[in-house]
Amino acid sequence: MSEVSRRSLIAGVCGIAALSFAPLSAEAASVVRKISNGRLSIKISDMSKVVAVGSSVLVGKVKGQDVGLFRSGPSTFKAFSLRCPHQGAPVVKDETGWYCDVHGSKFEQDGALNMGPATTGLMKVPTKVSRGTLTIG
Ligand code: FES
Repeated sequence: MSEVSRRSLIAGVCGIAALSFAPLSAEAASVVRKISNGRLSIKISDMSKVVAVGSSVLVGKVKGQDVGLFRSGPSTFKAFSLRCPHQGAPVVKDETGWYCDVHGSKFEQDGALNMGPATTGLMKVPTKVSRGTLTIG
């Protein structure tokens, strides 16, 4: 591998890691509340600060596990574990969805399987919208 391509590879891996492990912005983090039983709570009216419709983010930890949140509509969501269903490695965010750099599994923005070796999408985490608030976990 040439020096240039090695640098490009390292920069790309670091870029992916920086994207995936970057915390929410201060504004977004300020509207994500930890509630009982290790769950998260976000008011729907604040959701535009956290994630745009059609996108997903690492929203925080639920019961100690990193969780991704996909927003499919103004008040419809899907949450999923950011542990790879193949062998449990952390899954990171990229431009098109989520990616496991251990063996190369890829997942869509909503956590659905795009490419193996994983054989399933990311494990669902329960969500509930009630009284204008999303609860995750
Ligand atoms: S642990 Fe993720 S693809 Fe193997």
